[in-house]
Amino acid sequence: MDTKNIVVLPGDGVGPEIMQPAVNLLKAIGEVSDTRFSLKEYDFGGKSVDANGSPLSSMALEACKNADAVLLGAVGGPQYDQLPPDIRPEQGLLQLRSELATYCNLRPARLYSGMETVSTLKKQIVEKTDLVVVRELTGGLYFGEPAGIQGEKGQRIATNAMVYSETEIRRIARQAFQLAEVRRGHVTSVDKSDVVEVSGFWRQIVDETAKDYPNVQLRHILMDTAAMKLVSEPSVFDVILTSNMFGDILSDIAATLAGSIGLLPSTSLGEGTPIYEPVHGSAPDIAGQNIVNPIGMLASVAMMFRYSFNQPEVGLCIEEAIGRVLADGFGTADISPKTKVGTMELSEMIIAIVGKRLSDQNASRN
Ligand code: IPM
Ligand code: MG
Repeated sequence: MDTKNIVVLPGDGVGPEIMQPAVNLLKAIGEVSDTRFSLKEYDFGGKSVDANGSPLSSMALEACKNADAVLLGAVGGPQYDQLPPDIRPEQGLLQLRSELATYCNLRPARLYSGMETVSTLKKQIVEKTDLVVVRELTGGLYFGEPAGIQGEKGQRIATNAMVYSETEIRRIARQAFQLAEVRRGHVTSVDKSDVVEVSGFWRQIVDETAKDYPNVQLRHILMDTAAMKLVSEPSVFDVILTSNMFGDILSDIAATLAGSIGLLPSTSLGEGTPIYEPVHGSAPDIAGQNIVNPIGMLASVAMMFRYSFNQPEVGLCIEEAIGRVLADGFGTADISPKTKVGTMELSEMIIAIVGKRLSDQNASRN
């Protein structure tokens, strides 16, 4: 029997509330398939700071390195905002991404049927949204050296460096082009090359890399234009290729198109164990109330079946189940559904559909 080892990092805020449905979903799938899931849970983020004095313990990191996949909830909270930068919960997340060398962050945003009027943007603008942000995740402004604050009070200087090597740009560009080849064949590379030299270099390397992908159409646009286009004409985008910081910003904008950031999944792929996490944060203001949207997390589990377990049919089954409950008008408060239900109720509906479909498929196969 095939066993998948998954490290579960619920984290802070709403993290544990969305992780429970993900774990329940895996249990349900395990009951009707030949795959077994071995889950190991660790404190992460603020919870780990409280327990171990650091946001990512060496034990948790070791387990992540040895796993088939990492499922992550969210990190951070106001009680940790005053901590020194190196032990803040967010630093644990950056360290995890860096240690696992997950340089390629995929953040798909599409409009589920029934969500056309949920976005604050007009229906005719969002209705054809179907894009993926390919965000470079282990370089750029987030990791560049020198970084920090120097000097005497009154004369201090704060620095973060935006650094990209040719290798880093080329490998993320390849991921974007390969993804475009199996989608609609368009890559839009986003930079700020009119001002920032690193961006000019980015553009040059992306152009060179594009030569290996003759079937993909490449466009370059500036970051400010991209932000505007994303809210005025999102349907022009297929694959958006961009750096760490720009990708962070653009993927939150993209979330608005889909209706709610609570709907968006992500995966971070690279050299080490892939990480699966929803795009949204720890949302401490709504934690503990059973109102957080579990769909971003459950859709991240779907991505795990696709990208890590080579079981795209299970991924699709989860996505279709999500699509069905939404089309039927069920949802959490953030998407103003016809029938408002709690986190657990919505999750159970989705899980029940997945369980039934997979066992029906088994029955028809036997
Ligand atoms: C994200 C988040 C993180 C990031 C934070 C929590 C460090 O905003 O995954 O988009 O900036 O990458
Ligand atoms: Mg972000």
